[in-house]
Amino acid sequence: MKAFSRSLGPVCAVIGAQWGDEGKGKVIDLLSEQFDVIARACGGANAGHTIVVNGKKHVFRLLPSGCLHEKKEVVLGGGMVIHLQTLLEEIASLETAGVSILDRLFLYPNAHIVFEYHKEIDAVLEERRMGQKGEEIGTTRKGIGPAYMEKAARSGLRLECLRWSVQALKKELEERQRAVVQMYGVRIDLDRECLAFTNAKKLLESRVVANGPELLHRFLAEGKTILIEGAQATLLDLDQGTYPFVTSSSTTAAGALQGLGLPPRALTSCIGVAKAYCTRVGSGTFATEDESDSGNRLRERGGEYGSVTGRPRRCGWLYLPDLRYSAMINGFDCWNITKLDVLDTEETIPVGTGTTDDGKVRFENLPGWKTSTRGMTTFEKLPKEAQHFIEFIEKQTGISARLIGTGQGREEMIVK
Ligand code: GDP
Ligand code: IMO
Ligand code: MG
Repeated sequence: MKAFSRSLGPVCAVIGAQWGDEGKGKVIDLLSEQFDVIARACGGANAGHTIVVNGKKHVFRLLPSGCLHEKKEVVLGGGMVIHLQTLLEEIASLETAGVSILDRLFLYPNAHIVFEYHKEIDAVLEERRMGQKGEEIGTTRKGIGPAYMEKAARSGLRLECLRWSVQALKKELEERQRAVVQMYGVRIDLDRECLAFTNAKKLLESRVVANGPELLHRFLAEGKTILIEGAQATLLDLDQGTYPFVTSSSTTAAGALQGLGLPPRALTSCIGVAKAYCTRVGSGTFATEDESDSGNRLRERGGEYGSVTGRPRRCGWLYLPDLRYSAMINGFDCWNITKLDVLDTEETIPVGTGTTDDGKVRFENLPGWKTSTRGMTTFEKLPKEAQHFIEFIEKQTGISARLIGTGQGREEMIVK
């Protein structure tokens, strides 16, 4: 892992190649040991990044998954939207587990605040979509869209506002009350918002830096290395994803750099994370979705239930054109193919290779290996069918799979 990490250079981004939940958290946790600074750039508590360390499960929503590694500096970037209470809870639960984070946490002042009323508006907008179009986006209802709406309308409140008095916040929210009631039928609960604000102000005001990009560039000048944890994934990107069934942030490598204020040329490597099959939560196209028993098997074996909402994830097979598309947009240097072990019981493994003129997905059925790969750490020890499966992906995408996940645990990873 050390040699592999060294090959990544000083600034590496880890980006999801499908519709999220590929296993970004696990690889971030694994790589974090070799980096000095771990940064989240975009998105909010719609993310759920799970890691399993010594059999214990941790789910991160806002903090980067690498933060269990003590002494690493942890950065929340300006492209993020941050629900204060959720952040406080995450910090508290880490402290309970004996991991202190506050003195190494750095918050960009231009990250936006997600209020409770954003979550309520999120739900109202979903109901309206259902009423008007008969279909919702299937958001996580974490207020992500409404917070980014305010950001784009240039009326959002940002972490720099933690410097305000709570009276100033209350006045600002009071002024918004009428418009919010009128537009969405949602009443801002001033007491609740002010309480979260007061708690956050106490703990976090001093962690909001004067200028985020300047901090990160100073870290770089000091010779520190930076690992960027992507959230959501390429096909959920607001610009390049399957609009309108996307999230409201820029989820690509370029978006991550923008969210952190790093120049494109600062990035020295980019790892694309893709499951050995495919899942999606929420609505929208999914060419290789499998609603038969096979899809159900993937869901059960892969534990494919949302870590944020508990919703069953839609399951299906790998679709190579999507991987090529994501690789093209992000410029992946290598793949982390995750959850290979979930396919251990499959007789044959369908892989979508393209679509015919009349819209039917073409599949290539690769032979399964019908034996456990769980916990394997060397490529050569994989059954030859599993090796062939990986090589097929490499050949079809032109990108090598340097990391292959074989289980939930931190150590269950092949480094090739
Ligand atoms: P993220 O949002 O991309 O970080 O992914 P999630 O944490 O939402 O979902 C990935 C799930 O798969 C988590 O429960 C992980 O513990 C689990 N996982 C990650 N890699 C592997 C793997 O190689 N094998 C298995 N079986 N599970 C994995
Ligand atoms: P991680 O980082 C999977 C999906 C939602 C919905 C759409 C819009 O864990 O991979 P939003 O609440 O963002 O407005 O919802 O995006 N979505 C995710 N799906 N993993 C995620 O994050 C997601 N974040 C958002 O399910 O379809
Ligand atoms: Mg997730």
